[in-house]
Amino acid sequence: MSPTPPLVPYPQRITPVAAPLRLEGRPRIGVSSVDLLELGEVVAGLLALLHDVKPTVQVADEADLLLVLDHGNRGFEGLVMPGGLDPLDQEAETRECYELAIGERSATVTASSSEGLFRGATTFAQLLTRQEPGLVAPGVRVLDGPALRWRGLSLDVVRRFFPVDQVKKVVDLLALYKFNVLHLHLTDSQAWRLQISGRPELTDPRNWPGDEGSRNGEGRQFYTHDDFREIVAYAAARFVTVVPEIDMPGHTQAAVRAYPELAGADEPAHPLLRHLDPRAEATYGFVADVLGEVAALTPGPFLHIGGDEAFGMPPELYAQFVARSLELARATGKRVVAWQEAARSLALQPEDVAQCWVGEGDAFDPEAARKSAPAEYHPLIDIVAGSFEHSSRDTPQAVAAGAYVLASPSSVFYLDRRYAEESTRADQNERRTRVGMASYTPRTCEELFGWRPSELAEIPAGARLAGVEAAIWCESVTSFDDLAFLLLPRLPGIAEKAWTPQATEWAHYRDRVGAHGPWWDRLGWEGYYRSAVLFGPPYSSSKA
Ligand code: ACM
Repeated sequence: MSPTPPLVPYPQRITPVAAPLRLEGRPRIGVSSVDLLELGEVVAGLLALLHDVKPTVQVADEADLLLVLDHGNRGFEGLVMPGGLDPLDQEAETRECYELAIGERSATVTASSSEGLFRGATTFAQLLTRQEPGLVAPGVRVLDGPALRWRGLSLDVVRRFFPVDQVKKVVDLLALYKFNVLHLHLTDSQAWRLQISGRPELTDPRNWPGDEGSRNGEGRQFYTHDDFREIVAYAAARFVTVVPEIDMPGHTQAAVRAYPELAGADEPAHPLLRHLDPRAEATYGFVADVLGEVAALTPGPFLHIGGDEAFGMPPELYAQFVARSLELARATGKRVVAWQEAARSLALQPEDVAQCWVGEGDAFDPEAARKSAPAEYHPLIDIVAGSFEHSSRDTPQAVAAGAYVLASPSSVFYLDRRYAEESTRADQNERRTRVGMASYTPRTCEELFGWRPSELAEIPAGARLAGVEAAIWCESVTSFDDLAFLLLPRLPGIAEKAWTPQATEWAHYRDRVGAHGPWWDRLGWEGYYRSAVLFGPPYSSSKA
């Protein structure tokens, strides 16, 4: 088996067993029962997208690619079993495990669930390469399963709106890399992106301070219930669970402009620091209605209630708000995720998830902020600095409460960080000075690969790690190409850390992911960053 197959994430075990499989014409996908036909069609769609083929799908026990459900779990005993929290809130340890056997005549994926079959099919898809007149896959046996159960991406659809078709492209990318959570950051100060019954002002762009910058063409700039259901269903068919976030009580300028009664009677510490006031009569009715509706729209078991950066809010009011919102969210029947600051409420419980995001080395720097911000923002800077003074205590406090910790420290998970290494393209080197947050120190792809989930500086020893989530914030994103530019090639590296239990070397990973450019083109992600380290000489010969 040579050269190394370009698999990302790398599987737990892969061994050469036979001569390669050659496919010509229309590959036949066979599934072991009628209820797997839909899965077969999804796999056919993936192969069509990546490899420009038109597979057929039928119930069969002979085919080019067989997907066989086998509840026996045979062969998985030697695998590392996953740790963390299942985004489907189920127990089954081996649900995502699979065996893929590729022989000269056919390939077979065997798993105990349709999810395991899909994970195996994505490995098969990554093993196929074009060799005219057809496709070829190496003869290998792969035995595989994830290191961590929760492997997500948080997508900011507020600072930049992504219509349903673009969100589906994000899901395709997540599925290719075996991610299983799409966290949608649906509301913020700049806009409110989800229809809420009886509260039409929320989604009226005239109430959105950030309307111009965050628009994406003409037309509706929010998701209707049907849009949201379409995203959830598309993601579910690819075994990606949607976790919707309603960010409160800060980051709520749009909501407060829409319904000023939510802000209470007090003057805010600064006009830009409006928040939902727990003393206002309207507030908890609003929170209960919104969370109830979002829960009803969401088949997944988790709701995210935000809780970050409620700058300027008195700590006791913040704690009161979060404690009550946690209760209201739990009352919908869902489990709750909140950003790390929610630990300050002292109301987190062991069933809850605190999402750690403040990265070491990314501490808010008031001096730098004063230098770069216009004078009218200076009164804000001290307020913000005061809030960050508590951040190093948040995650330990969540751990003390027994809550799960979801790792997203900005140090390695925030993909809105700028690139430190050059692009092979002049236009991208110009774009590199515009796209990404200016306040973060740029880092290389290699630096961002240098971590292990169990050794993150921001996660205290003894934490119940739920898993990991990358995050992409879109303040500097003005197009889908900008999104591609920031996500790729870095996102697959996070997939590998989350999925692959054994440590993999940067040089090995670099050579594998460096072969994925043509797939990204075919999936509609042509804007990806041509990092000179991955795509430049001496690696450029086969990787334009
Ligand atoms: C965050 O980055 N404010 C969660």
